[in-house]
Amino acid sequence: MAGTAGSTNYPKPWYRKALQCEVFFHYICRPQTKITVEKERVLSGIRPTGQLHLGNYFGAMRNYVRMQDEFNCFFFVADWHALTTLADNKELQSSVHRVIAENIACGLDPEKVCLYVQSDVPEIAELYLYLNMLAYKGELERTATFKEKVRLHPENVNAGLLTYPVLQAADIMIHRATKVPVGKDQEQHLEMARNFAQRFNHRYGETLVEPQAFNYGGELVKILSLDGNGKMSKSENQMNTLYLADDDDMIVKKIKKAKTDGGPAEPYAQKPDFIENLFTLMQLVSGPDTYKKFQDDYNNSSAGNTIIRYGDMKKQLAEDMVQFITPIRQKAADLQNDPAAIGRILKAGKDKARESAAVTIKMVREAVGVTYY
Ligand code: TRP
Repeated sequence: MAGTAGSTNYPKPWYRKALQCEVFFHYICRPQTKITVEKERVLSGIRPTGQLHLGNYFGAMRNYVRMQDEFNCFFFVADWHALTTLADNKELQSSVHRVIAENIACGLDPEKVCLYVQSDVPEIAELYLYLNMLAYKGELERTATFKEKVRLHPENVNAGLLTYPVLQAADIMIHRATKVPVGKDQEQHLEMARNFAQRFNHRYGETLVEPQAFNYGGELVKILSLDGNGKMSKSENQMNTLYLADDDDMIVKKIKKAKTDGGPAEPYAQKPDFIENLFTLMQLVSGPDTYKKFQDDYNNSSAGNTIIRYGDMKKQLAEDMVQFITPIRQKAADLQNDPAAIGRILKAGKDKARESAAVTIKMVREAVGVTYY
């Protein structure tokens, strides 16, 4: 075996390191072309469960759109992850199409980012398999998301659910992504991914890249449910969530029902969560003058002198929200009505994703030593 290309004694660390950068590959294959330094890689996954809502838009999708020029972005639909909890797989196809259509409608450009479906990239499953040998049962059982799912669905505690963070680590490391834009609830998974990468590198030599959680810090916007009870969520009471697919009447109806109170007791009173949330929404979708008017009305109000009229505020907010959501909804609907176009986008994404994944899986196989000829 000694000296054979691909055998374990050939790829020295510098070689693997260099391969982490496709620039090197490019240089070897096409030395006549100019080398451009590759942008840092950002990756995130979206589970195709439930409809996307305003919280997803302002919490995540809007940031993805901002990142697409600055970074080399990989965004994918985590359909394998969905199978860990999905009882009914009949809706998988329409859910995947909807997620893709809605993300594009929100401004993701499939020409700029690599947009694909997880199950189109078998290299992820292979990396998941190797990582599974390095993941301990104890640490998987201690994962907060796992414990929560066991609590909610004690009848479906499957091995896929237990190893969910391992699959997520494979998703990230297959593309050598360094930045992963995720919310707080996913930080533990990111830490686990780093642990798996370290263990792999320790056992087999420097191969995998350790990812970091990435957000826009102070700019992160949190949208609450319209009744003020916790974050806007996919599955809780649907009347308290504004979905990107809601029609105009539905948007108006939901905002009209949003929780308010009798008004502030004193000038410049601190706002209860549910009122603050209405102002947040207004700041995001209405003009600055409108926002300022209602802020002033609020700040000048006191018990017995209620200047702010929540009815008017909600009417204005509903109008501006309709203006905001309508073009997204329409664009997403148009795309969903053209499954062939979605197919072409996914196929192109798959090719790009597999090209990137192939580089990693080759290094991984060599590192593990599963190369026999
Ligand atoms: N677990 C993520 C969620 O529930 C989805 C996801 C799967 C993901 N694989 C990923 C996110 C890789 C970031 C990176 O939202």
